[in-house]
Amino acid sequence: MLMNNWYVAGFADEITNKPKHVRMLAQDYVLFRDETGTLNCLSDICIHRGASLSRGRVHKGCIECPYHGWRYRGDGSGSEIPAHPDVRIPKRVRVDSYPVEERYGFVWVFLGDIPEEERPPIPEFPEYDAPGRRNVRGTFKWNANYGRVLENGCDFAHAAFVHPSFGSRDWPEIKKYETLPGEWSYGARLTMPTPPDSGFWGLIRGRQEKVDVISEPEWHIAGMTVVLRLHMNRGWNNALFDCNTPIDENTTMTYWQLSRNFFTQKFFDSDTTRRALQIFNEDHAVLNHLNPVELPPGLREEFSVESDALMVAFRKKRQELYARGWGIDLQTYQDEFGERKAAVIPSPARREDPKGWVLPEVPRLSPEGEPIRQAAE
Ligand code: FES
Ligand SMILES: [Fe+2]
Repeated sequence: MLMNNWYVAGFADEITNKPKHVRMLAQDYVLFRDETGTLNCLSDICIHRGASLSRGRVHKGCIECPYHGWRYRGDGSGSEIPAHPDVRIPKRVRVDSYPVEERYGFVWVFLGDIPEEERPPIPEFPEYDAPGRRNVRGTFKWNANYGRVLENGCDFAHAAFVHPSFGSRDWPEIKKYETLPGEWSYGARLTMPTPPDSGFWGLIRGRQEKVDVISEPEWHIAGMTVVLRLHMNRGWNNALFDCNTPIDENTTMTYWQLSRNFFTQKFFDSDTTRRALQIFNEDHAVLNHLNPVELPPGLREEFSVESDALMVAFRKKRQELYARGWGIDLQTYQDEFGERKAAVIPSPARREDPKGWVLPEVPRLSPEGEPIRQAAE
């Protein structure tokens, strides 16, 4: 898993002044709004005796630990130690606080310590609030690694075999297609034959033969986001924007929104949602059983073909980011820290002041993406 990246932690309108726990990158966080409505994300571990801050409450804009009532401001600094009201709060009484953005109705949290100008950009989603469109949204929890989920989202060759609603084994061929490489993203544009609509939508659209749909899948490092735009006939189009947040290596939470420019009445929302979930479930039946569970570290451990270009590009980018030291070494973390020692992902404040912190940083992977092993004792 990668630090120094934006991840979606929830829907913005669901975060209030009641603390909300969220797990990302195998770490715990608390989200809450202070009295000005500002959204904060802090490490969930109280540095006094390790209580979970998200089980506390928000008081005067600060999060109050449920155990001995210590309070922390939105920037993570300690504001009160109730047992010793006259003592000046030491600087080390603070927890990591992470940058937060509210965009497209999502809460984006930056889990890492690099400065703003070096962060991968949050992808564009102009359909979100464009006039004449309607959106539905939801979540989907996968028993699958985030990299496998991201790759699946921009894998066009599986539709013919996994999704009878928009692919057919009669037309599995992937013709030459255009690719759109970017610094932090990679996209493609191709024509896909899709079967006639069945059921309710087929009735509304009338009988038709197969339809050529222009498909534009793309991935973005920020949020491990996949955007899939489908341009159908009659000018109808869909944009599926899904952000794949790793809970841990084997569990991924997808926060998704689907924007459409047809059947924009509320009446059609539930059917649109049902179809989106059906597609996720069809994918899940396969992703639940991949071996290995995670993406292999290199490019040669699985065999790639031309239709896998987006996935190969993702694996290369991930390797490049490991080489920058952004990979979290979960194995070493589990083996060496275990249940005896807590560690956190460093927040930007640690750059300015690397010393004054109680909890250590999580161990990082080597530039090759492998665990850094200490010599045996
Ligand atoms: S554990 Fe949080 S105040 Fe003691
Ligand atoms: Fe799929």
